[in-house]
Amino acid sequence: MIKQAIIPLAGLGTRLLPLTSVLPKELLPINGKPGLEYILDECIEAGIKEFIFIISSKKKMIKHYFFNDIFYKKLIRKKPRNKRLKIEYAKIKKYRKMIKFVYQNSPKGTGDAILKCKNLIKSNFFLMLMPDDLIIKKNCSISMIKLHKKYRSSIIASKKVNRRDVSRWGIFNLKKIDKRNFIIKDVIEKPNITKAPSNYAVIGRYILHKNIFKILKNQRPGKNGEIHITDSIRSLILKKNKFIGHIFAGKYLDCGTMHGYINSSHQISRL
Ligand code: G1P
Repeated sequence: MIKQAIIPLAGLGTRLLPLTSVLPKELLPINGKPGLEYILDECIEAGIKEFIFIISSKKKMIKHYFFNDIFYKKLIRKKPRNKRLKIEYAKIKKYRKMIKFVYQNSPKGTGDAILKCKNLIKSNFFLMLMPDDLIIKKNCSISMIKLHKKYRSSIIASKKVNRRDVSRWGIFNLKKIDKRNFIIKDVIEKPNITKAPSNYAVIGRYILHKNIFKILKNQRPGKNGEIHITDSIRSLILKKNKFIGHIFAGKYLDCGTMHGYINSSHQISRL
């Protein structure tokens, strides 16, 4: 059973400057609510019971967002008839019961961030989501958990991208099983176009086995000097661990770039 989800939130958000000079990108509103809440709602619908947020001391505002009791209590006292206020406070309290925080204070990469959660993971498999990657119209986490039950393996979400953009993503070498699923034979973090084995990209939804922590412990920095989860996944694949790629049916919104972020509100408002 997959009941825990890790969400790395310590990233600097440089692609969304200047907004991220004061606000964590995950709290930026998308059609009226923080991007992060879409991710939480997707997980809760998929049966997740506990979230592990990896934040940094610079991004404490994320914790404050879920623990701002003084603010809500004062306001509710002042405006006791305001229903919306009570609904919003109840929603925040529901989320926060499920969240644990760990800290990554130097941005050494996603792999380093995930390693910080090692002692909190209770079952063999866990879900990991990149908060920049919204998937709407069909719950990707639900589909991946179903697939995990069928294959008893690790699962990574994927999408075909433009060949000239491969250096923005982790890229798979694959063998198709059917229209939506494939065996992952290899994965390379942000390859240049001449080295890319396909144009199927890693999108930020992963079901991983806790054996990845052992690999992460000794993972050397890779592309741009960062410790990448992709490189540890690659080691596990080369050691014959089974990884399935899932080409999800929902619509992908890349909220980690300014263009994508602006477009995401427009797309969600049309749902
Ligand atoms: C990360 C991963 C990359 C993946 C991408 C999906 O990159 O390292 O493999 O394709 O998320 O959004 P980042 O967006 O942190 O540069």
